[in-house]
Amino acid sequence: MKFTAFAAVSALAITSASAAFAGPEAEVLHYWTSGGEAKSVAVLQQEFAAKGGTWTDMPVAGGGGDAAMTALRARVLSGNAPTAVQLKGPAIQEWYEEGVLADISSVAEASGWAAVLPESIANHMKCEGSWCAAPVNVHRVDWIWANAELLAANGIEMPTTWDEFNAAAEKLAAAGITPLAHGGQAWQDATVFEAVVLGVGGAEFFQQALVDLDTDALTSDTMVQAFDQMRTLRGYVDGNFSGRDWNLATAMVMNGEAAFQIMGDWAKGEFLAAGKVPGEDFLCASTPGDGFLYNVDSFAMFDVAGADKKAGQDLLAELIVGQNFQKVFNLNKGSIPARVDVALDEFDSCAHLSAADMTSSSEGGTLLPSYAHGMALRGAQAGAITDVVTAHFNSDMSSAEAVQMLADAVANSY
Ligand code: GAL
Repeated sequence: MKFTAFAAVSALAITSASAAFAGPEAEVLHYWTSGGEAKSVAVLQQEFAAKGGTWTDMPVAGGGGDAAMTALRARVLSGNAPTAVQLKGPAIQEWYEEGVLADISSVAEASGWAAVLPESIANHMKCEGSWCAAPVNVHRVDWIWANAELLAANGIEMPTTWDEFNAAAEKLAAAGITPLAHGGQAWQDATVFEAVVLGVGGAEFFQQALVDLDTDALTSDTMVQAFDQMRTLRGYVDGNFSGRDWNLATAMVMNGEAAFQIMGDWAKGEFLAAGKVPGEDFLCASTPGDGFLYNVDSFAMFDVAGADKKAGQDLLAELIVGQNFQKVFNLNKGSIPARVDVALDEFDSCAHLSAADMTSSSEGGTLLPSYAHGMALRGAQAGAITDVVTAHFNSDMSSAEAVQMLADAVANSY
């Protein structure tokens, strides 16, 4: 009797489970909405669909992801987390601490992630030893992009020091050309600032100031010099920069409306999506100074109910770290693969430079996490710094005032 009842119940469970399982499903929250970004995320959608997955797109426009992170918080607080979220750096561990992330260790182990990812990247994907995120790429933040024709027409080489950059900018400004394409958004100011801090202070200083948050470094003369250079750069930006999206600033360089942009290599994704050729139409060079600021995009899975969604999470995680996806996605995105075993033959010269510099920086101890792109610090500390950087950039605050405000803001952020 007992046996029969059990058999009947489990038969029922099996029937209803199989009737309910319609295949892998995922609602994906991301902020890849520019031309190059949309092309890149479409690669994942296509691979997911090809494996029978149903993708519900939840794009939240806004470069750098600030708006996406606000949307994510609202969803999680209302008990309706998305299945997969574009999330990176210490924010992954912050969400893990709130107890809302799914464990994707079974996929990571079955697919052998530990053997194909550099340890530094793998560490960002782990939460207390288990795998809680899947990496898609390595973006480099400290780049200068330039319009090749404008530079040639004005007899300008890609600058290798900030003095050279300033001299080139003065020359361009005198010729009536906007030297620096920039969008007035806090995260864009922060992107330029961290490149300047690395260039002016060097890798060790960057580590002390923007990773370790050492008060002496934050209030040092070197930091004063970094703010001085930010003030100089402010003078090279056109009058309409306020609120401009980063990809519109990239378009200005593409169209010859401005000569340079200081931005991560997602900008290259825009040039490529518009059919522009590196070395011919546009030039890339690392910003002055040694070192490499890395920004690894990744996806974290949130704890959701339902076999379809769980299957969707597993499938997404598997595809994301897959060799083909890592190649095709990154060819579009402007970044390089996170996996070490993807051939770079089809990648362009900027990607080759990025890969070579990443290796040499890693060996030389100058491979550093980007603070501006959420790789180095927790949200509260990064936000405190960015508030000061943008307040300085958009006012006539002195560099001395800025460093004091910076130290105070960091001290009050814990
Ligand atoms: C970065 C992100 C990139 C790119 C960029 C602009 O933070 O890592 O993938 O999308 O923002 O939105």
